[in-house]
Amino acid sequence: MRLLRVWWVLLATLGAGSAQLVTEKFTSVLMDNCNASVILPCIIRNLDKNNTRAMYVKWKLGGNEFFSFDGYATPPIHKKNSTFQSAKFVSLPKLTAGIASLSLSRKEAILGNYSCEVTESNREGMATIELKERLGTWFQPVENVLIIVTMILAAIFYLIQLGFVAIKYGIPVRKKITLTIAGLIVITAAVIGYVLLVPEGFTESNQIGLSLIVLPAVILVPLLYVLFDLVFEKPPCFAVILLVLKALGYVIAVIGFAMSVSACNPQQAAVMVAGLAIIDLVAVIALVYVIIIGFNFKEHQPPRKAVEEPLNDAKGVMLE
Ligand SMILES: *[C@@H]1O[C@H](CO)[C@@H](O)[C@H](O)[C@H]1NC(C)=O
Ligand SMILES: *[C@@H]1O[C@H](CO)[C@@H](O)[C@H](O)[C@H]1NC(C)=O
Repeated sequence: MRLLRVWWVLLATLGAGSAQLVTEKFTSVLMDNCNASVILPCIIRNLDKNNTRAMYVKWKLGGNEFFSFDGYATPPIHKKNSTFQSAKFVSLPKLTAGIASLSLSRKEAILGNYSCEVTESNREGMATIELKERLGTWFQPVENVLIIVTMILAAIFYLIQLGFVAIKYGIPVRKKITLTIAGLIVITAAVIGYVLLVPEGFTESNQIGLSLIVLPAVILVPLLYVLFDLVFEKPPCFAVILLVLKALGYVIAVIGFAMSVSACNPQQAAVMVAGLAIIDLVAVIALVYVIIIGFNFKEHQPPRKAVEEPLNDAKGVMLE
């Protein structure tokens, strides 16, 4: 096969005048999540003059010309269609060596069949190439699930805790509604985020999706404070530790987020999930803690009465 091609090239070179330009054959090129730009190859094997001033190059998509280079004109004329503003030769100097490959930004790269037509003096050559896409999901499917589940759980634990505090200590209706809505906002944002996050590819929409899941989690930190504030006159040391841990979980999640959000092939999903898992863990501990404290209060006691006692006393009551 190879010999045949060499032979053909030789023939083409020898055959003066009417001989054709020989192009290298590529059937297709693939773009994946990580291509910021794409290169459509077009390589001519048997240029004679090796001079751009004797060359004319046209690039077409589905038969419609969108880019042309006229080296005969003085100065040479580059033309491009307005929808392919990023189109350019990978290297103009290399055009003399027969490399008429075109580079396009990813945004302008339309999938389809491209062709390049090259003329040198009275010889012509043409190559076609199909631009295809092979996208994958941005994160692994299991990572997607862990991110959304940890986030939703954090909000659900918060709502359960809110419900318990509301029943046990009573919360003014307006405050109850505000606090419930705050929790629902976190859940809604996460669900919308998930819908944007899961489709294949690495686009702004996927990135917005991830932001909607992870960033609103910050609301849960002050919300935990508000809940403690409803239970305790002055939050005991243990509650403060939980608040600090919750904030720390959020910081870790955001660090993971920052490392992932601009990576086409993210490796740090685990950091994000770890941060969110800390938020969950704190939410569970806070829930259990508030329930234990709550059951140690006598009913009909004015809210906040017993909480003036430090935690150790509360434990003592528990052992009675
Ligand atoms: C996309 O990037 C990959 C890896 O960097 C590269 O091999 C491939 O040729 C690129 N695709 C296109 C169409 O440029
Ligand atoms: C490109 O051409 C190939 C082969 O002729 C064909 O199978 C394919 O469907 C075409 N692709 C597009 C996007 O038109």
